[in-house]
Amino acid sequence: MARILITSAIPYINGIKHLGNLVGSQLPADLFARYMRARGHEVLFICATDEHGTPAELAAAKAGKPVDAYCAEMHEVQAEIARGFRLSFDHFGRSSSQRNHRLTQHFAKALDDNGLIREVSESQVYSVDDGRFLPDRYIEGTCPNCGYTSARGDQCDNCTKQLDPTDLIDARSTISGSTNLEVRETKHLYLMQRSLRDKLEAWIDSKVDWPILTTSIAKKWLNDGDGLQDRGITRDLHWGIPVRKGDEPWPGMEGKVFYVWFDAPIEYIAGTAEWADANGLDDAAWERWWRTDKGAADVTYYQFMGKDNVPFHTLSFPATILGSGEPWKLVDYLKSFNYLNYDGGQFSTSRGRGVFMDQALSILPSDYWRWWLLSHAPESSDAEFTWENFQASVNKDLADVLGNLVSRVTKFAVSKFGETVPGGGEFGPQEAAVIADLGTRITEYGALMEAMEVRKAAAELRGIWVVGNEYLQSSAPWTVVKTDPARAQAIVRLALNLIRVYAILSRPFIPDAAAMMMAAMGSDDWTWPEDISAGLRTLPEGQVFTVPENLFRKITDEERADWQTRFAGVRT
Ligand code: MF3
Ligand code: ZN
Repeated sequence: MARILITSAIPYINGIKHLGNLVGSQLPADLFARYMRARGHEVLFICATDEHGTPAELAAAKAGKPVDAYCAEMHEVQAEIARGFRLSFDHFGRSSSQRNHRLTQHFAKALDDNGLIREVSESQVYSVDDGRFLPDRYIEGTCPNCGYTSARGDQCDNCTKQLDPTDLIDARSTISGSTNLEVRETKHLYLMQRSLRDKLEAWIDSKVDWPILTTSIAKKWLNDGDGLQDRGITRDLHWGIPVRKGDEPWPGMEGKVFYVWFDAPIEYIAGTAEWADANGLDDAAWERWWRTDKGAADVTYYQFMGKDNVPFHTLSFPATILGSGEPWKLVDYLKSFNYLNYDGGQFSTSRGRGVFMDQALSILPSDYWRWWLLSHAPESSDAEFTWENFQASVNKDLADVLGNLVSRVTKFAVSKFGETVPGGGEFGPQEAAVIADLGTRITEYGALMEAMEVRKAAAELRGIWVVGNEYLQSSAPWTVVKTDPARAQAIVRLALNLIRVYAILSRPFIPDAAAMMMAAMGSDDWTWPEDISAGLRTLPEGQVFTVPENLFRKITDEERADWQTRFAGVRT
């Protein structure tokens, strides 16, 4: 039994995520966590909401709420939707937690103690009426080049000229519209990542089994241009983790907070501490997942994220960890994803284009989405969601292949032999062939799941379902029963056992349907069918079973057309 720590990139608090976000991190992380638990490993799966930064502040302002109240509310909304998708987090934390405040301040102090923090003075635009510094994209004005009246502080979207906020004519704050702006000096902390370059490179070079997508992104940032840059880890914002040196104030940094990308990954650790707190456990309970001096040396740590997150997880966060000089766990495997596009374009949060997590659950149960998303995960390249493809996958894979098998077998069995597993006949050569075939496939399926080859694993699982259909087709119990009822009983016995085995194998992908299948077989034995021959003999003669509700329904052409129009843009 291994100890496996899994984190998914933590979703931003501002707004409900779309299906592209879901399939890029939380959902495949859940698949992996469920699989590893099914294999009997000790798993800890942590996620959280990413609550700091300007977008959170602005979203709260737009909603007319104080930012802390807004975050608390949106955290609950996201947690509820996560439960709806059956995301099996051991804890869904909050980057605004006191645990994260303390740990972030702790890391800043450790980095400073190691001489890795320097103070830098900068000039920035300050809005007197808003009482805050404005990041470039929150300043608008008239472009000195083309006269466009909505040019941003960093660039004119009309003529593409790069701008400095001070170039703008009639500059104003996009938050309040105020033109009472001035340039002020402000001091920030920089993490000296340059001095960690060699350490980071050696660490990345040691990851020989990482996918090229991951290491090439890391290498590019290490070596491009001037190479790894020192980065500012503080901001002039109100909302965030106050800049402190551990428990002490940080002179000159009063009123400032840490940059959201500094504190967010630390929440992986803090979220684990929150998990311990929520379960009445002591510090040792979470430290044994994170501190290699306190039991985490035998933990294998997996991270899941979209490709845009890779630099932060291969360089910035490791720089924090390595720079601290303390024995914190670093990631062992980093699984990253490309993008999922939507029906000929991109998902767009701002334009409400595509299907968002809450909407998805309002039209179909989570298993339908989980199956489609995982079996089409954007692994080797970007992928695209189309309603045609979704309809075809659901109707064929789930309804025709798996659902139909379950209902045919159970209905036939009940009609001929009643509601218990029949005991007649013996397994013969056909059953031996199925057992051999499944044995090979289940081993392959396990290897793909372990390797986080999500799409291939889905294809293998589908192949395993198909084996059952083919067996039923070729053994034809509905014909055999007329001449050799004992033989038909043996076939039915194997097929009923197959339903239980399919429940176990399918559970990481479609947990609700799996639970229904297992319950229908009157069993609660989720032992992984490592020995498939024994696995197919688990339900004994006389075991009571039931015909489950239809596991999956088909999507009609009318529904497809309706949904296609409904989600084309402008979220209502
Ligand atoms: N909120 C970020 C995003 O959605 C991900 C943060 S991951 C963490 O892109 F490492 F910072 F936690
Ligand atoms: Zn312009």
